[in-house]
Amino acid sequence: MQINLDDKIEEIRKYTMAAVNESRYEHSVRTAGMCEKLCEKNGIDPKRGYLAGIAHDMCKKMDDDLLMKFASKDGNPITQIEKDKPSLLHGRAAAVKIRQDFGVEDEEIIQAIANHTFGAEHLCDLAKILYISDKIEPGREHITKDYLDELLKLPLNEMVYTVLKENLDYLAKKGKSVSGLTMKFMKELERDISK
Ligand SMILES: [Fe+2]
Ligand SMILES: [Fe+2]
Repeated sequence: MQINLDDKIEEIRKYTMAAVNESRYEHSVRTAGMCEKLCEKNGIDPKRGYLAGIAHDMCKKMDDDLLMKFASKDGNPITQIEKDKPSLLHGRAAAVKIRQDFGVEDEEIIQAIANHTFGAEHLCDLAKILYISDKIEPGREHITKDYLDELLKLPLNEMVYTVLKENLDYLAKKGKSVSGLTMKFMKELERDISK
């Protein structure tokens, strides 16, 4: 059945507003706006982008047991890193929740939300767009208008590569470890843009 995206966005927006704290909700609205804009630029229905953005952190305040319960329904194993830190499952849990509780069957939206924390190989364009929208929404500290103007001139894979590279450099500087999934995501982008 075709869902009305405007109604669905409103339903999820209200849920998210009630489920997370104010600053997280505001981040979700800004991420949704960025995702909408980048979808439009890349020939994807911007409402699908907005929906993915407004939903991506809806499980951010869910307790650990519930996060595990929701995430384990996606059919993939819960990794040791996720068991040690269940908050990392908030994307996978939200992906299950929008299908189960909100009736969203759009596989690209579901893939985008599920993978927004680590990225992965073989992601659809919508998932790549959500991944970077989360990091370049205008409320993020280092994101200026000039930075965005330059970034948004790039083709999608180069844009994603640029944002991911900056993020990995930052993590390296802080001495933080990087997920294997993120490294694979990076390597695939490197291959794609050097073709
Ligand atoms: Fe998140
Ligand atoms: Fe986020």
